[in-house]
Amino acid sequence: MCGIAAYYGKRSAVPILLDALKVLEYRGYDSCGLAVYDGKIRYVKTVGKVSELLKKSGELPDSASIGIAHTRWATHGRVTVSNTHPHFDCKKRIGIVHNGIIENYQSLKKFLEGRGHKFRSRTDSEVIAHLFEEMLRNYPEEEAFINSVKLLEGAFAIVALYGDKLFLARKSSPLVIGIKDSEFFIASDTVAISRHTDKFIFLDDNEVGIIRDRNLEIKNLDGFDVNKEIKRIKRTEEEIDRGRFETFMLKEIFEQVETVENAYKGRVDFKAAVPVFGGIDFDKIKKFRRIILFACGSSYNAGLYAKYLFDRFFDCHVEYASEFKYADKKISKRDLLVAISQSGETIDVLEALRKYKEKALASLGIVNVVSSSIAREVDAGIYLHAGREIGVAATKTYTSQLLTLFLFWIYLARKFNYIDFATAKRYIDELKKLPGKVGSVLKREMEIKKLARKYVKFGNALFLGRKFNYPTALEGALKLKEISYVHAEALSAGEMKHGPIALVDDRFYSVFIVPHDSITDKVINNMEEIKARSGKIIAVTTKGRSLKQIKRLSDDVIVIPGTKEEFLPVLGIVPLQLFAYHIARLKGLDVDKPRNLAKTVTVE
Ligand code: F6R
Repeated sequence: MCGIAAYYGKRSAVPILLDALKVLEYRGYDSCGLAVYDGKIRYVKTVGKVSELLKKSGELPDSASIGIAHTRWATHGRVTVSNTHPHFDCKKRIGIVHNGIIENYQSLKKFLEGRGHKFRSRTDSEVIAHLFEEMLRNYPEEEAFINSVKLLEGAFAIVALYGDKLFLARKSSPLVIGIKDSEFFIASDTVAISRHTDKFIFLDDNEVGIIRDRNLEIKNLDGFDVNKEIKRIKRTEEEIDRGRFETFMLKEIFEQVETVENAYKGRVDFKAAVPVFGGIDFDKIKKFRRIILFACGSSYNAGLYAKYLFDRFFDCHVEYASEFKYADKKISKRDLLVAISQSGETIDVLEALRKYKEKALASLGIVNVVSSSIAREVDAGIYLHAGREIGVAATKTYTSQLLTLFLFWIYLARKFNYIDFATAKRYIDELKKLPGKVGSVLKREMEIKKLARKYVKFGNALFLGRKFNYPTALEGALKLKEISYVHAEALSAGEMKHGPIALVDDRFYSVFIVPHDSITDKVINNMEEIKARSGKIIAVTTKGRSLKQIKRLSDDVIVIPGTKEEFLPVLGIVPLQLFAYHIARLKGLDVDKPRNLAKTVTVE
């Protein structure tokens, strides 16, 4: 999704901005641009990669020490140079970069055109520059900017370059200011600027920032000063380094040995066999009667896994955040809301949270990115501690979500005495074996690569599983779709016979997630149904009494280590991540930045 970077200081702005854009590439984009101020605004833009922008940036003055930059992921208007940010007012005295969507841009544009403004793009963003220009006719700069922001509807993070000053605004779309002495680094994501500083101010909704005369002021929309806390966030360079791996995605798949451990390390009282969540006040949440999990994409799949756990003792619902926020669901002081989001910025999740949180008993967030909007807006947050995920497709954060949700389930089950010490201890003991078991699945990479070679020509795939393995089927299909562009569908294996089985012929293959658990025999019956129709079968299974039968029914088998039923999804998804990865690589695709996708989805 779109990325913003801006700089105000004493060094040459162009290399700092290009470097930040390079880091922001992981979010996904299709064009990029940069503008600096050096007595007047100068800019370059391009369709395509930051490396193209770098070639053009020689045209810009080294002496400019203030500037703005942007990677655009098209929403309103096609991928063209004229639609690429920065956008300008009529006289090119104001340059703006914008993330989000201005919902009332059409009426604003009509009004501004009526006032003689000439537009150069088909974007919603350009209205911001013209609106600021229009306001400057009647108001001093600060008021003009604030008045412009007040007229905007929708979601936005904005940085405007006007003379040797920067004007910032935020509503529902993240914007952070990094501070180092009298230098200011602005970005939509701390990762873009964290090599310069570890001191950050996060702009909140309906706040503006003004940087002029080497000074930063934060104000609300009434023009009053707002006191902001400076947060310290330390990051290491390795987090954005691929190390020995050819791609970030592969690195992140392999990191799961550590991230799985990080998900529970320091969070479990092993003696008492109970997880400890420092931020959660159990007395406050214990009156809940219903748990509502909501999320999008992979995070939704993790939520669905958790539903199978919570359903055992509690009334649990799992919702797509994009549906939930428009659902007018009846929420009461007996509801515990749980927002699941790797980035902590997904707009659908954030808006659903905002819609319902006051009505609910409490809101929790299961989030990876520290200090993200969702993490800051929930009553209590549980971090994944998975480290930055750069690959667009969720991998290590997905398995961390599964385990974090598992820990939250067992935490509640222990607190309410639904699970006794001995049972909990068995789970916790097995938990400690998971990193090693993930490691042994990863050792099968070459075997899985071979399988990918065999199936790379197929254009259709079905992923099938039941109970805890149904979310694994959904997640496996999502991985294949998003990085290798193969049509893949996931179903609960029991649903096949109710229609989708009509699809099956020898041009389809089906991936069954069929480990030895409480439902193996039922899934084997579903495998028979596919086999009887000449469908090809890949089985992901464990050693056990039905292995022979599973092998007989399958064209190919991947054997993963056995574990408790509740942990099978953590191991079961790893070969499917590798399978999708190798199919995509064999097709020569860019797995870290798949087409049309974005890492952080900050538009509806
Ligand atoms: C899939 C993927 C997406 C995200 C979804 C939600 O690999 O990454 O489906 O899971 O966009 O993102 P978060 O978890 O950041 O809210």
